Amino acid sequence: MSGVAHLYAHLPFCASRCGYCAFVVHVGALGDRDAYLDALLAELDREAGVLGPLDTVYLGGGTPTLMRPRRLRALMERVGPHLAPGAEVSIEANPETVDAAALRELRAMGVTRLSLGVQSFRPHLLRALDRAATPDQARAAVDCARAAGFDDLSIDLIFGVPGQTPADLEADLADALALGPDHLSWYELEIKPGSALARAGTAPVDEDEGADAYERIVGGLEEHGYRWYETANFARPGHECRHSLAYWGAADYLGIGVGAVSTVAGRRRRNNPALAPYIGALAAGDAPPRTDEGLDADLVRRERWMLGLRLARGMDLGWAGPPDHPQALDALETAGLLRRDGATLTLTRRGRFVQNAILHELMEYA
Ligand SMILES: C[S@@+](CC[C@H](N)C(=O)[O-])C[C@H]1O[C@@H](n2cnc3c(N)ncnc32)[C@H](O)[C@@H]1O
Ligand code: SF4
Repeated sequence: MSGVAHLYAHLPFCASRCGYCAFVVHVGALGDRDAYLDALLAELDREAGVLGPLDTVYLGGGTPTLMRPRRLRALMERVGPHLAPGAEVSIEANPETVDAAALRELRAMGVTRLSLGVQSFRPHLLRALDRAATPDQARAAVDCARAAGFDDLSIDLIFGVPGQTPADLEADLADALALGPDHLSWYELEIKPGSALARAGTAPVDEDEGADAYERIVGGLEEHGYRWYETANFARPGHECRHSLAYWGAADYLGIGVGAVSTVAGRRRRNNPALAPYIGALAAGDAPPRTDEGLDADLVRRERWMLGLRLARGMDLGWAGPPDHPQALDALETAGLLRRDGATLTLTRRGRFVQNAILHELMEYA
């Protein structure tokens, strides 16, 4: 085995919880950051035996930048010896948590890619999402990141926010393009169980309105040279996120930190989300509390279909395995929703707008 080439580190601290967010996040726990860093380093040391040269590292959250450069540097010093030449090292950042000095430090410690959570440039939509950063803070963070030498810069946006009009979407599109990012992730708002929006009974936007918005985003970004390479992801050529591509390609990866998931050699481990037991176990020299399951061939096949169909580059049928309903392939092809070229299956442009429905025509999911 050549070793795992992808590392995810979860940095779960947030100043507050945004209304839509159901990620593993800890609010009001900044006092635990040093102990958490120690635990994270201990977990990395325990698991380092599975690592090969790392092609990608992803520091995700939570709000990783709340760890501050000092702790992030300590983490990067421990990760550094595992990095392959030319490795991609991404970090998620909330605009209000970074300034010019912090971004220069991130660059200097070996972070190559910055993903800024902007979500929208419209103040009323930012309020609806409980976001802390203003549009001007987002613009300033982009300027500082460029000045710090980040030439792989992504912004996250959300559409389908209650109250978002077509004019709001046009304005977000124009503002996003004006910043000239190398990459954009533009997600449809999901009302996740357990989020404040779900507790308030917020209804998702009408399906047709959502579809119109999605089509407009895809068209607007493509017109400006961004390639729609995955359902919600767009990049200038050469700026696709290699870490995400590895994940969608079902590559093995090691995840460390609370709530982190790993897939290594046919097994899936999930660390528990609670902070204190994680820190306590690693401080005592034990493994963190986690579940560990073997992945059977059927589960792997279903996951590969779910991940592979998202990609513009298409999916190799030999890699994914047969669909549950092979007879549906012909009908979908005749309907102009997918193309078969030898062993490669690719959704057409029209198919990509309805990929969930296509997936459910082809596969049985419990
Ligand atoms: C792990 S999150 C957090 C990154 C960072 N803390 C932030 O808020 O900018 C990564 C991205 O997922 C997206 N996201 C999170 N929850 C979502 C939801 N319920 N619906 C749609 N997008 C969501 C947001 O665009 C967010 O920037
Ligand atoms: S969206 Fe980002 S900042 Fe907001 S609670 Fe979730 S992880 Fe934290």
